[in-house]
Amino acid sequence: MTETDVECAKQDEPSQVTATVEIFIMGKRYDVPIGFTIMKAIEFAGYQYIRSCGCRAGFCGACATVYRKGQEQKLHFALACQCLVEEGMYLVQIPFVPANKALYDINDLAPEDNTILTIYPEIARCVSCNTCTKSCPQDIKVMMYIQNSLRGNIAKAAELSFDCIQCGLCAMRCPADIKHYHVSQLARRLRGKYIDPESKELNARLKELEEGKYMDEVDEMMSMDRDIILNLYKKRKIEAQGDLDEGADA
Ligand code: SF4
Ligand code: SF4
Ligand code: FES
Repeated sequence: MTETDVECAKQDEPSQVTATVEIFIMGKRYDVPIGFTIMKAIEFAGYQYIRSCGCRAGFCGACATVYRKGQEQKLHFALACQCLVEEGMYLVQIPFVPANKALYDINDLAPEDNTILTIYPEIARCVSCNTCTKSCPQDIKVMMYIQNSLRGNIAKAAELSFDCIQCGLCAMRCPADIKHYHVSQLARRLRGKYIDPESKELNARLKELEEGKYMDEVDEMMSMDRDIILNLYKKRKIEAQGDLDEGADA
């Protein structure tokens, strides 16, 4: 994040700022509009994100943020693109966690009780402090999916961790140095490959991809003018919306 591109930050500035809150970004004080997300407020203050920002929609996990409020001791954890600013926030962005990720070939594994423990033996060091759960901006029962991984309950670990966006905040706090999101990714991979029933639709689509279905359309779009593509995108049929429209006509 740099403090250089004020022009860019001003794009989000409302025409009339009616009320502000005082926040601190890496120790420096700013007044920012009430109702802004932390991400928008940081840009409003004149910073430009060059990392710690991806989807801006709560999905990619890039915008992990730690803050405290006023004179509180407690540290809070949030996604900058989802959490609104509050008076007295002291904010810092976490760029990434330098976590080790095990190398494995999912085709060589089996969904046995000790598969996850063998690949990530550090899960046996969990002291059940629940700090990981308290750090999770997705409200995931993080300790529970680690405990299920430890006990070999792969399906449950995968289910409990389904909403993990790999922000890394749990791993920043764990006294056992567990990298929870890598553990749960393995659980979901094992469940997807070996435990859940095969999806006929997915297999059919994979076959279509291998056979190059729709490649003519893709090639045609690759050669189109940007404005034409933009127009097509705006006019696209949104399936859920289509269903709603059909329901309204009925
Ligand atoms: S923070 Fe680490 S040690 Fe504590 S409950 Fe979570 S996984 Fe276990
Ligand atoms: S489980 Fe950990 S990595 Fe996943 S969303 Fe929660 S805090 Fe982030
Ligand atoms: S930018 Fe992707 S979750 Fe916030």
